[in-house]
Amino acid sequence: MARNVYIFDTTLRDGEQAPGCSMNLQEKLEVARRLEKLRVDVIEAGFPASSPGDLESVKAIAGIVKDSAVAGLCRSLEKDIDAAREALAPAAQPRVHIFLATSPIHMEYKLKMTPDQVLERAVSSVKYARKFCSDIEFSAEDAFRSDPGFVCRVFGAVIDAGASTVNFPDTVGYAMPEEFGSRIRYIREHTPGMDKARLSVHCHNDLGLAVANSLAAIRNGADQAECTINGLGERAGNASLEEIVMSLRVRKDLFDADTRIDTAQIYAISRLVSQVTGVKVQPNKAIVGENAFAHEAGIHQHGVLANRATYEIMTPESIGIPKNRMVLGKHSGRHAFEDRLKELGLQAEGQALEQIFAQFKDLADKKKVVSDRDIEALVMGAAAVVPETWKLDHWAVNTGSALGASGTIRLQHKDGQTKKLVTLGDGPVHAIFQAINHIIGKDPELELYEIGAITGDASAQGETMVKIGWEGRHWNGRGISTDIIESSIKAYLAAINALEWELSAPGTVRQKTAEGGV
Ligand code: KIV
Ligand code: ZN
Repeated sequence: MARNVYIFDTTLRDGEQAPGCSMNLQEKLEVARRLEKLRVDVIEAGFPASSPGDLESVKAIAGIVKDSAVAGLCRSLEKDIDAAREALAPAAQPRVHIFLATSPIHMEYKLKMTPDQVLERAVSSVKYARKFCSDIEFSAEDAFRSDPGFVCRVFGAVIDAGASTVNFPDTVGYAMPEEFGSRIRYIREHTPGMDKARLSVHCHNDLGLAVANSLAAIRNGADQAECTINGLGERAGNASLEEIVMSLRVRKDLFDADTRIDTAQIYAISRLVSQVTGVKVQPNKAIVGENAFAHEAGIHQHGVLANRATYEIMTPESIGIPKNRMVLGKHSGRHAFEDRLKELGLQAEGQALEQIFAQFKDLADKKKVVSDRDIEALVMGAAAVVPETWKLDHWAVNTGSALGASGTIRLQHKDGQTKKLVTLGDGPVHAIFQAINHIIGKDPELELYEIGAITGDASAQGETMVKIGWEGRHWNGRGISTDIIESSIKAYLAAINALEWELSAPGTVRQKTAEGGV
């Protein structure tokens, strides 16, 4: 029987740490629910000591996830481990993840510690955490650029102190697959007590080799792979979960290893992560890119029609992209709609389902055919909403080649008051955004403004993504509508509402302390 490889997902920690990828609490909870449904073994939910907001979100995730372990990252410091203890208290399967760098350059310049001091600190941290948690992972940061003999000494000592997983990161994405594989074999063979712990790898993608290196490690005995949805992560990202999992599944013959992942959930979670972070998936991205299963060349289309295996090594259905189904439109009933949600791996219940169905009917009145992408967009929009401090009541724009643009907007505040304003601008969107800023009394910087079409047809819905920055913090917003001005307003208001919500609810504020050091 194929050996099991454990999947440790760090989308909510290493992924969220990447610039411009922050998520609010609602969004993190939704991603965590989907990761559990995907059946990842471990969800790294955050870095509790990095901010009060991170601690609260790890705690909230720990409170809802039952079937996956929930990990909190800590430096090798008692105060970090205490923060993880508090955050993980509600978890059914808590894991404390402690890291400390072992490479000469990190020890000398960042930590200003000798190797012996590092070894001692690693052991004492693991012993400290072990007093309240039986599942401890220790990571030797920058392990690949460390002396292999020293890593074995540190790993042996932390296993002896009670670590149940030791993690070997290629923190800066420097390794080549063959050497990474043989390094993992060396570590496995030379670490005292390695049979009592799992060996994990954590690869970054600076040279585009994170997945290749993770797979080479698995072939050479790694038990766990750390990865993120869509390969999100610091700099060029982390190893992509979907690529590792599908490589193992498609090439079981070669690896003789598999995971417990429900691959039919991959597509839905990839879309969710892209929508809540505002980071688009490149069209030719393996597994989840828009073109991953598209056959454009005539000769390929001919082959696929005759037998899909001519050009497809896996089916779209295996990652949750459903086959041709009935077209949904304005005559479709609730049953057909709910069936389609199920097929798409999407979930909505109660109030949320009522709201999405009403939006679907509304959309079906405007468009002849409602596509799967439209439905996904409705569900994702409802899944990750924040409370509306400001609600759109009415808008109008006036623009043309000979005139400047003017925008009128009326917003309703949650206390019931409405405010209306007309402003001029360089274009209709600029005019409206200016009006919103005047009404809310804040002037955030618009850091990203992107419009796309959800489907390719003439009646497509516009999808707008915005990112705003204010006082050193950043928020995303997304809006969809058949009118692109309206989708822009909705996206901007969604980001403004996320800002207002975080400022009013201290537990959700993402003010991170600088990382680094021990
Ligand atoms: O890249 C890295 O070394 C990390 C560790 C904290 C595991 O993210
Ligand atoms: Zn990392």
